[in-house]
Amino acid sequence: MTSRTRKGREQVSLIRAISKFGLASRTQAEHLVRQGCVRVNGRPVRSPFLWLDPRVDRISIGDQPLRAAHHVYLALFKPAGYVSTRSDERGRRTVYDLLPADVPHLFPVGRLDKETSGLLLFTNDVRFGENVTSPIRHVPKTYLLSLGTPLAAHHAELWRRGMVLADGTALRPVVVALSVSVPQEVTMTLIEGKNRQVRRMAEELGYTVVRLVRMAIGDVTLDGLVPGGVRMLTEQEYNGLTAQADPPVGSTPLPRRPRRTRPDHRQFPGPS
Ligand code: URA
Repeated sequence: MTSRTRKGREQVSLIRAISKFGLASRTQAEHLVRQGCVRVNGRPVRSPFLWLDPRVDRISIGDQPLRAAHHVYLALFKPAGYVSTRSDERGRRTVYDLLPADVPHLFPVGRLDKETSGLLLFTNDVRFGENVTSPIRHVPKTYLLSLGTPLAAHHAELWRRGMVLADGTALRPVVVALSVSVPQEVTMTLIEGKNRQVRRMAEELGYTVVRLVRMAIGDVTLDGLVPGGVRMLTEQEYNGLTAQADPPVGSTPLPRRPRRTRPDHRQFPGPS
């Protein structure tokens, strides 16, 4: 018997419920339960054959709650050299090669360029994915950028004020921190995610991008991850991203588009 109805509620065994969420096979689920890693409604449970209703009872493994609708939230430390698509017509390695085989169908929350490494989230929760990438929610993303030459102070200032790209795209102000110990390194926090934004900001000013790493999305960092590694988001991380405060759009004004076709920043000298 895989399910039964009690008091009008459909119940399944705990291990079946866990495997239905797509996080573990039934054998793995049974191990997790017997090892005391599983809680139901906040209480530790060691009987894999406990009957429950996964739509009502709250199951958690470690500090990761299993959510209704089988939602899964993963953080991947993407190494450089992997494309952020499911399959690639040119046969290149994709981020899906790095995901565990037993996860359900997940999509990446935003993308990273092939040569960019760092934090990439995956989920099957469409609403979560849309919220994190929404242009009006302004979830901050932090990057460590290594350039071929040190960033000139007036270019850092241009990024802080909001730059206009060569094609006329106006960018919102970026938080820029120059490294004291490594002059070519810059930490920058963006509240928008235009295509190849960081690379274009640097390359249009004449810099070579040596390395680009996404260090954080909101408060979620690469902590606990090695390149190529995957972990689940903690409940705190999930809640933090979901509750990410929306700064009013007016507080981060877009820079004015210049009248001339060539944007102003082109007048500046390139890096020395
Ligand atoms: N900006 C870029 O230029 N590339 C990325 O992958 C992410 C942000």
